Amino acid sequence: MPVITCIDDLKRLHARRTPRMFYDYAESGSYTEQTFRENVTDFEKIRLRQKVAVDMSNRSIAGEMIGTPVTMPVALAPVGLTGMQSADGEIKAARAAEKFGVPFTLSTMSICSIEDVAAQTTAPFWFQLYVMRDEDFVDRVLDRARAAGCSALVLTLDLQILGQRHKDLKNGLSAPPKLTIPNILNMMTKPEWCLGMLGTRRRSFGNIVGHAKGVGDLSSLSSWTAEQFDPQLDWTKIARIRDRWGGKLILKGVLDVEDAQRAADFGADAIVVSNHGGRQLDGALSSIRMLPSIVRAVKGKTEIWLDSGIRSGQDVLKALALGADGTMIGRSYIYGLGAMGEAGVTTALEVIRKELDTTMALCGERDIRNLGPHNLLVPKDFEGDWA
Ligand SMILES: Cc1cc2nc3c(=O)[nH]c(=O)nc-3n(C[C@H](O)[C@H](O)[C@H](O)COP(=O)(O)O)c2cc1C
Repeated sequence: MPVITCIDDLKRLHARRTPRMFYDYAESGSYTEQTFRENVTDFEKIRLRQKVAVDMSNRSIAGEMIGTPVTMPVALAPVGLTGMQSADGEIKAARAAEKFGVPFTLSTMSICSIEDVAAQTTAPFWFQLYVMRDEDFVDRVLDRARAAGCSALVLTLDLQILGQRHKDLKNGLSAPPKLTIPNILNMMTKPEWCLGMLGTRRRSFGNIVGHAKGVGDLSSLSSWTAEQFDPQLDWTKIARIRDRWGGKLILKGVLDVEDAQRAADFGADAIVVSNHGGRQLDGALSSIRMLPSIVRAVKGKTEIWLDSGIRSGQDVLKALALGADGTMIGRSYIYGLGAMGEAGVTTALEVIRKELDTTMALCGERDIRNLGPHNLLVPKDFEGDWA
């Protein structure tokens, strides 16, 4: 059993144990991957302020996200094709999150369906919606999420057309993988993954196949996706979905101050400052760099969460100290899942918890709610002087 000390250890195992096509799908950004890289490297520019001779007993990193108690303010972000990283991946991740006491978000493009995940878990999870042209499909999927007890809707705003990720095109990404000779050769080196997949019936898009008109088999699915994401999504359509859903609403993919103001005025329960993990608009600034200006504009009007680039509990601490009310992680838990299934997701969460707690203590804080800019050393030019 390898000793896991950090998220990078899980990433290395993920690369070794999961077919190339799915590891690459997770580990890529759009075009040059500049934004994907900077999401991580910009966290490194922020430094921590060490404080000594402060009582560090009885520490707490617990909190709330949109009224839900959390053992730490770190939710699992929606990730498509999670059930291809490990058999029944969404169920494994949701179970790990539930046991740990953090929220899980199920993607529209998941392999396990909403109903499957609900049947295999007890804590309510959140459902992430990609808005499709087919309003009937959207309405039915919202009804299904409500019927399954989902406690919030995460509406993703930054993917109405797909950012190009070169590796997915070169690898011929599909779910399940096509049985070409290179794919078969690669899968032969991943025996545990293959066994898992042979043992499950969940190998295609569970929320879509059998639910969307004209999608009964996979060959029509990729074209259906390209055709179906609604390029006309605007605030009027968002309002229609909000009214139809009627529950808690999280707007994900906000990276601009004006958009954040609009989302707060709109009444979103939370916004997620995000660039989709660098997978959409390459050349956009990192989420952590955009965070301070968004905090200045809308703090207190809506909850502000951040994702994109979090690879440690130290990164979580930096986001919170800069004013975020919560965070989401994508790849950090996907590495764990691809490495070791449910136990790997738990390990990822444990790694982050320990790093967050230790770092908080060494910064001289006992309660996560007291973190603030006083805990950080931020370079004067961090936000940049852009014209
Ligand atoms: C492989 C992969 C698939 C993703 N699929 C979705 C998705 O289906 N819906 C969505 O809203 N975001 C999706 N995202 C974006 C994540 O929700 C999140 O914004 C991103 O992973 C955060 O960056 P991080 O991976 O650096 O933590 C995906 C991200 C990855 C890495």
